[in-house]
Amino acid sequence: MPQELTVPSTIARFVTGASPSMLIDGAFVPAVSGETFDTLNPATGGLLARLPAADAPDVDRAVAAARRAFDSGPWATMKPYDRQRIMMRFADLVEARHEDLAILDTLDMGAPIQRMRGNLRRAVGMARFYAGLTTALRGETIANSIPGDFHTHTLREPVGVVGAIIPWNNPHIAFIWKVGAAIAAGCTVVLKPAEEASLSALWLGEMLLEAGLPNGVVNVVTGFGETAGAALSVHPGVDKIAFTGSTATGQAIVHAAANTLKRVSLELGGKSPNIVFNDADLDLAVPGAAMAAFTNSGQVCSAGTRLFVERGIYDEFVAAMTSYTRSLTVGNGLDGDTQLGPVVSQTQLERVTNYFEIGRAEGAAIASGGKRLTDGDYASGYFVPPTIFTDVHNEMRIAKEEIFGPVVSVMAFDDYESVIRLANASPFGLGGGVWTNDLNQATRTVSALRTGTVWVNCYGQMDPAVPFGGYRMSGYGREGGVEHLDEFLETKAVWTQTH
Ligand code: NAI
Ligand code: MG
Repeated sequence: MPQELTVPSTIARFVTGASPSMLIDGAFVPAVSGETFDTLNPATGGLLARLPAADAPDVDRAVAAARRAFDSGPWATMKPYDRQRIMMRFADLVEARHEDLAILDTLDMGAPIQRMRGNLRRAVGMARFYAGLTTALRGETIANSIPGDFHTHTLREPVGVVGAIIPWNNPHIAFIWKVGAAIAAGCTVVLKPAEEASLSALWLGEMLLEAGLPNGVVNVVTGFGETAGAALSVHPGVDKIAFTGSTATGQAIVHAAANTLKRVSLELGGKSPNIVFNDADLDLAVPGAAMAAFTNSGQVCSAGTRLFVERGIYDEFVAAMTSYTRSLTVGNGLDGDTQLGPVVSQTQLERVTNYFEIGRAEGAAIASGGKRLTDGDYASGYFVPPTIFTDVHNEMRIAKEEIFGPVVSVMAFDDYESVIRLANASPFGLGGGVWTNDLNQATRTVSALRTGTVWVNCYGQMDPAVPFGGYRMSGYGREGGVEHLDEFLETKAVWTQTH
């Protein structure tokens, strides 16, 4: 067994069975009720920390703090220069501590340390990208046609208090993504991390204070979705919910938000099509398509889980992908050699392995994987091998439902028209991929796919400056890119009569 990392002193307080507090109004506090819940290491099942189980009274306090910081506090009125300086200091702290942040998230949700380390450029880059945008906010002057002398221009103003609800699949990235854009726009935030992986959010909240963020601008409330998350979604003091997670929870949030008509942006699930044509470069496409589905143990919203392979290369492709898949190293994420860690929780383990039975019952074949790993060190963690279903039909549940585990459904196709029809025959529309050396084939496929992102001869690349989001039931709104700030801004039209 290769050497595992030891726990750095900076994060020991989060992962040695202690009870860290949550962040409200610049102070670290327990839940009003005093209740806690356990957060576990998915590689071992061991206890990491007992966290405050926030409920409505805690959310009330956090929203009140965020309201004060927005309505009368310094944040919304602070000069962009000063907001930017705080955010740049935060980015520097993230950069300096990224290795330890990576270890913290690996312990909390299981992803391989090599993957978490690979987040460095994106995490720091996002923090700096949003810091940069603080000084790039602008309205427009508009030529109007009414008689007389009227000048019209627009102001962009922060929408107010944002409730940010994030999932567990890439915790520190999700935090910086949502909080960075919201505070760059001048909003204040109550963030509820996922109950499965809340630790890095607490540390990042602390770093924001250290960087000089005024009290109450960002609050971190730990707790369950059904309690703390629901209280935030329905709260009249919240102006906007920015959510990433499952489509079902997204729908519940839209219902909850309807009573006050608060704004909502949703980054939801997917069942993304990945299309390999006969002429594709298989040296690229085989590992590319495998990792499009398996990376982060498949716990990626845009994972390429419906793999369409053109008939002429289907057998060769499946054989090559099977041997590549069997070469992947599954293990404890702290081990530097691990390529795929455990899935995040017992619940996810059961959900994913249940799909093995569903797929078998539907008549799909299994080329690799298909059974929980239980030997030796695997026994106490939630380990699932990368799994390839073949002989899949697009109408099977394993081809329609988001499994959120390392599972791919492979389907053969005969021509361009039929594969586009199948690829778009899904209620989701988040990601998509196409592998071909024919530029025309690539170009028309890009246009035909009804998805928010299409990767050509690659899969899964993300950058702070590039927008990301879904069509249809994969949500609405865009995160990343300059347009991300629109999610957190109102537009005010100003009419001035001059004479
Ligand atoms: P989830 O959508 O229930 O959880 C995501 C976040 O929403 C968490 O912070 C959770 O506490 C919160 N939440 C849950 N119920 C809520 C409610 N009623 N009101 C407000 N907030 C609420 O996802 P979960 O249960 O962790 O995973 C279940 C499935 O969802 C996965 O198997 C996967 O298919 C999908 N999922 C998709 C993600 C994506 O990025 N597309 C991320 C996480 C899960
Ligand atoms: Mg849940």
